[in-house]
Amino acid sequence: MGCILSLFIVMLSCENQSKEFASLQSPEGTHQIDVFLDQKGRPGYQVFRDGKILIDSSGLGFEFRDQPALMYGMRWVESKISSADETWEMPWGEQREVRNHYNEARIVLEEKEAPGRKLVLEFRAYEDGVAFRYDFPEQPGTDTLVITAEHTEFQLTEDYLSWWIPGDWDIYEHLYNTSRVSEIDALSKRGHPNLASTFIPENAVNTPVTMRSADGLHLSFHEADLTDYAGMTLRVDTETLKLTSALVGSDRFNHKVKRALPFHTPWRTIQISDRAGGLVESRLIENLNEPNKLGDVSWFSPMKYVGIWWEMHLAIATWDYGMTLDEDGRWVDTGEAHGKHGATTENTRRYIDFAAENNIRGVLVEGWNTGWERWIGFEDREGVFDFVTPYPDYDIQALAAYGREKGVELIMHHETSAAPRTYEQQLDTAYSLMQDLGIHSVKTGYVGKIIPKGEYHHGQWMVNHYRKVLETAARYQVAINAHEPIKATGLRRTYPNAISREGLRGQEFNAWSVEGGNPPEHLPIVAFTRMLAGPIDFTPGVFDIGLTQKPESQVNTTLAQQLALYVVIYSPIQMACDLPENYAGQPAFQFIRDVGVDWEQSRVLSGEVGDFVTIAREERETGNWFLGAITDEDPRDLEIDFSFLPEGVSYKATIYKDHPDAHYRDNPTAIEIEELTITGNTRREFRLAAGGGLAISLMKE
Ligand code: NOJ
Ligand code: CA
Repeated sequence: MGCILSLFIVMLSCENQSKEFASLQSPEGTHQIDVFLDQKGRPGYQVFRDGKILIDSSGLGFEFRDQPALMYGMRWVESKISSADETWEMPWGEQREVRNHYNEARIVLEEKEAPGRKLVLEFRAYEDGVAFRYDFPEQPGTDTLVITAEHTEFQLTEDYLSWWIPGDWDIYEHLYNTSRVSEIDALSKRGHPNLASTFIPENAVNTPVTMRSADGLHLSFHEADLTDYAGMTLRVDTETLKLTSALVGSDRFNHKVKRALPFHTPWRTIQISDRAGGLVESRLIENLNEPNKLGDVSWFSPMKYVGIWWEMHLAIATWDYGMTLDEDGRWVDTGEAHGKHGATTENTRRYIDFAAENNIRGVLVEGWNTGWERWIGFEDREGVFDFVTPYPDYDIQALAAYGREKGVELIMHHETSAAPRTYEQQLDTAYSLMQDLGIHSVKTGYVGKIIPKGEYHHGQWMVNHYRKVLETAARYQVAINAHEPIKATGLRRTYPNAISREGLRGQEFNAWSVEGGNPPEHLPIVAFTRMLAGPIDFTPGVFDIGLTQKPESQVNTTLAQQLALYVVIYSPIQMACDLPENYAGQPAFQFIRDVGVDWEQSRVLSGEVGDFVTIAREERETGNWFLGAITDEDPRDLEIDFSFLPEGVSYKATIYKDHPDAHYRDNPTAIEIEELTITGNTRREFRLAAGGGLAISLMKE
């Protein structure tokens, strides 16, 4: 598992190219990157696709504290071109084998004047995009760099249609906006009432940000291997159509990044494809990360899960038990608890039983530990949460044992309330408890403004916190599903215990957002933006679409779409988030019982950003296939060609489709279930309702 299947890295040619200029092509010649020094000695680059300019002359460089900028006055020392072609295996993922095939240029620059500092640029050209990073070698007389600005530019060559969220330093849980680059207005997204922490300092966007040209070319800008560095937003110049890196800062230190030499930055990436679906199939982001450092992670295996969660968002149960703080600052049970606590032993047993009966292997329990009485809306959250002490009505030992008996594992929950230092102090004890209980995954959370004040969720300090959590957890065979996380940048390749994360507007917003839920176009955008970064804990599976307990809110999809999401939105852990009673007697629940969570291969059969998408995935081990299609507010006729199925095999298909009268608003649960035999020769038309979907299980006959 996780091994490198074949490693074939060849230095094709190591000749020094002509001075002051390097040109690099992708393996089949689709992309070309030219790197140069301009007249002022500033490094820059251009990107061509099929010989046509795609990214025009774009400058590179940095500003530092206590040191002159590294930008102008550089001299070309040398450039080397090399190639690599390797295939590696994902221990779990959208596909088993990943080919990493690229050409690389390594360019050494040096300041002409004293102190003669060196800067190395590394560019990689792939068939599915381009990437580059800065490498800071050791410098005589300097051991640390304090970066105050990174000036990496992307000069667009067209006013693309773009799908973006604001460059918030604290949260990615915004609705996506669709506009021309020249119309991006991130500042208009400030102060959203549902976000417990939000900071949008300038007109910038978060990545991945996806764009489409007039003739249908798709580009997505992001970063890979975000290690000991600040997250990058992209400042948008709406006049010149230039994007410039704008790093998330720290008000505490008044800088962006502090690093000891030598180090390199994360990769700056552009995924490029003629098809929207090509972006989803691209593994460029994972390829730019280091190989698996953890070795065998078979202690985690992909799973479906249920849990004590949705009932809190529906406000029929609470996270807190109702403890009282005594005079010595201790939480005590005065016997006056309100009785709405969700995480009780009895309720958890109910979920374990339900999971065991329905081919579901995990049960998440939120609100099991002390501290929730001072969770949200409190400034002083340091030392509040305790990650080992259960509330008096929750018998964690007995429940872990009961789960084991039934083949169900508890999923731990650690809400840090954005007090990471408190969490760090308890990591070892919290994870040892999990190890003792045989619990191998934890959902973490960082709701609220970061303590200490002046740090942001996406800054270097927090990037390092999230990494420390991953590394510490790995030592205890614990996998992490972070909410309010740093964005995914392909680190799951290096740390395959980074199983999933939130980092987008999830299902929870459908229960309480001021907009009355996510609009139907939300997920058809997410599939081509956020999902390019990595797995998403969206928590699909609401069957009571109208939300009986929340008449003012609703989920803006049909029931068939909720099923399709298990295939469309990739994660190695997939929640069936609704209350068990809402699944009782529902024939459509069979799809959730059956659907796979770990894939041999994945195909994006069709799709357009923000409109619709159809994905088919082959389950590892069984060879069964699952297909999901979703549409926005427009109904759609889809012709599905099943020629992706292997020849000569026939499948028993169960089709879950919108009833002809279904509509996400008025008639969301109208679903039709049909069984038939499907082979690779089958072609069929399906109608998706407004906000609708289609889910098909294809079991080998
Ligand atoms: C926000 C998370 O996204 C949500 O899933 C969780 O229930 C709450 N925080 C409490 O931790
Ligand atoms: Ca959240």
